[in-house]
Amino acid sequence: MNIDPIGIFDSGVGGLSVLREIRSLMPGENIVYFGDQGHVPYGPRPMKQIQDFSEGITRFLLARNAKIIVVACNTASAAALKYLRETFPDVQFVGMEPAVKPAAEKTQTGKVGVLATPATFQGALYASVVERFANGVELFQNTCNGLVQQIERGNLTGDETRTILEEALHPMLENNIDTVVLGCTHYPFVIPLIEKIVGENVRVIDPAPAVARQVKRLLEAGGGVNQTAGDVRFVTSGGVKEFKSNLKVLLGINGEVEFAGWKNDREIAA
Ligand code: DGL
Repeated sequence: MNIDPIGIFDSGVGGLSVLREIRSLMPGENIVYFGDQGHVPYGPRPMKQIQDFSEGITRFLLARNAKIIVVACNTASAAALKYLRETFPDVQFVGMEPAVKPAAEKTQTGKVGVLATPATFQGALYASVVERFANGVELFQNTCNGLVQQIERGNLTGDETRTILEEALHPMLENNIDTVVLGCTHYPFVIPLIEKIVGENVRVIDPAPAVARQVKRLLEAGGGVNQTAGDVRFVTSGGVKEFKSNLKVLLGINGEVEFAGWKNDREIAA
């Protein structure tokens, strides 16, 4: 049995929504999670810079013996997944893509809202998902400016968060959407608020459970799923105290958090 950890990363706390699903599906797996809070948000940054950060984090996770790397960030997946696979051909990566496919299959009105960051909408990955799967369904997109930062602050229900979501979702509702795709891993933490705004007739799709199942499939096809360990380590390039409080608010846990700082755009001090 391979007890090496699953490596997971995000620009900040968003990937914890994916970690939560991986933990619940495979509680016996060791995990090392890297939140790049020194650089959050990624969404408005140039693609090249997100590639550099993603490469640095991948090297860091590999140095921690990660056996598979989950890019638990739609923005980093859009900007860097292809690049990472080319740069590290022997490493298995699992990335995120906006769940346009299940949304297009399920919508009755033929109208779907997509919430994601600017970099995700600009990337070739989103264009290709839309081209392959939208299948005539009309997509309404919104970048929810500032929402990632509110979630990083643990503001899941306050006025600023509500206003950002209302401004994004009300025009979509006026256009008769019946499905909302969460194209950013931070957003599942505000699902209760989103559901309040859109009402019970609108379906909200979080791709994290599907990503966790994909990780499990790959582990089963490799050395198998570990049943005996289950140690989770958290690393942040930002504030340890803040990350600990994020863990409490977002996952309801008290976790040990370690700091690792950047030497430059591509290298983390180990
Ligand atoms: N959690 C992220 C995503 O899935 C990144 C958000 C950001 O840093 O802008 O896109």
